[in-house]
Amino acid sequence: MNYTSAEKMLKKCSQEHVLAYWKKLGKKSQEALLAQIGKIEPESLAYCRAALEKGSEVPDSSKGKAPKVAVLKGKKLVEAVLAGEKELKAGRVAALLVAGGQGSRLGYDGPKGCYSIGPLTDAPLFYFHARKILARQIRYGKTIPFYIMTSEANNAATVKCFEENGYFGLDKKDVFFFTQGMWPGMTKDGKILMDAKDHIFMSPDGHGGLLAALKKSGALADMKKRGIKSVFFFQVDNPLVEIADPAFVGYHVLNKSEYSLKLCAKRDPKEKVGVPMQFGKSFRMVEYTEMTDEQCNRKNKDGSLYFLYGSPAIHVFDRAFLEREAAVPMPLHLAFKKIPFVDAKGRLVKPLEPNAYKFEKFIFDILPKARTAAFLAFNQKDEFSPVKNAEGGDSPATCKADMQAKWRKWLGEAGVMLPEGMQIEIDPAYAIDAADIKAKGICLGAE
Ligand code: UD1
Repeated sequence: MNYTSAEKMLKKCSQEHVLAYWKKLGKKSQEALLAQIGKIEPESLAYCRAALEKGSEVPDSSKGKAPKVAVLKGKKLVEAVLAGEKELKAGRVAALLVAGGQGSRLGYDGPKGCYSIGPLTDAPLFYFHARKILARQIRYGKTIPFYIMTSEANNAATVKCFEENGYFGLDKKDVFFFTQGMWPGMTKDGKILMDAKDHIFMSPDGHGGLLAALKKSGALADMKKRGIKSVFFFQVDNPLVEIADPAFVGYHVLNKSEYSLKLCAKRDPKEKVGVPMQFGKSFRMVEYTEMTDEQCNRKNKDGSLYFLYGSPAIHVFDRAFLEREAAVPMPLHLAFKKIPFVDAKGRLVKPLEPNAYKFEKFIFDILPKARTAAFLAFNQKDEFSPVKNAEGGDSPATCKADMQAKWRKWLGEAGVMLPEGMQIEIDPAYAIDAADIKAKGICLGAE
């Protein structure tokens, strides 16, 4: 893009202030600014402005009902496992990780996936995810391609982490990194914010940016070429997740579902997790921030919570559904934030109060678009213990304790007794469940 076409495009979008300092910039700065402008699509600007005009009104969830959630046992569980195993053995399952977020609540600077969580080895979160995929590949004899969404801020460090660790045993050709998009920040009146004279303020477009990024990067086409049918989606912060779990994949396939969600009973009525609700024939994820106190605490006759189940963001998508939704725009969520900006005199201002909007997309906003959806309950203790905060709940300490408890349970089921307080760690490629441990015939008796 050259100056003339940049100016033309910006004028058309009423954003010509972006070039206000052009004459004062050196050649390098001018080139960098032009490159940044070149990446902005006028349609995206119009889309952001339209979202601003619409405002951030919260959709009414008062008529939402709790969806029917399956708890698989006995014959039904066996059927689901067999159906999932069939998919895995046919090589029709992919793993999809969103890892573009920043670990700001955790106070960690790098990609969250590089955060050390192995109780004995200090292995990073990525290690546990990749080794689980490796284990399933070995068990079912077929590749599970691994698609990882990063952001501009953490892509290089993420790739480096995989390179330095030999892809944790996975074949490099089956690991596909792709970067999510960025949106400019805007003032209330729809003007793009400059955070330097030669730089537009941009922020990641949320995990819903996944769809556009999957399409743009060629990842969706790659999935199709590989014959993928079911896409197992998970978040980077939960090392307990059972990636490509056959029961869940099978349940999804048996229900001919386009979007399936694993759900677990909330640990407390106000737990900070999204809650799927049913509205007529469709479903929508209602974020904890949108729920009223009455909804959070509503009880059934037997005293149990009415909106019992929350979403740990573990999904299986039908690939064709992702393709269909990647072709249409997703709704935008507005976040009013304190964003530093350059004022009319060229001075950098660090506001003390929120002054402008960031725009984000959430992947679960495609739930209402699914022609078929399925909900499966699981035990939170076994599969959900995210690392979100530096201390307290959902911290590295609670996550490590939950990892210990899970591994101890497996060992116990295999008849292996451990001394109390003994810290252990199991490489997922060595064992991904109690059955694996049993098959090893370990005999570790404790006094
Ligand atoms: C999220 C969900 C919530 C769910 C909870 C379970 C939202 C708005 N809420 O909350 O419904 O119950 O997880 O743990 O998502 N990410 C990107 N790019 C981005 C932003 C995030 O890839 O631009 C990724 C992160 O790396 C992470 C995941 O998305 O893997 C979730 O992000 P996070 O900000 O941690 O979500 P929560 O607010 O904790």
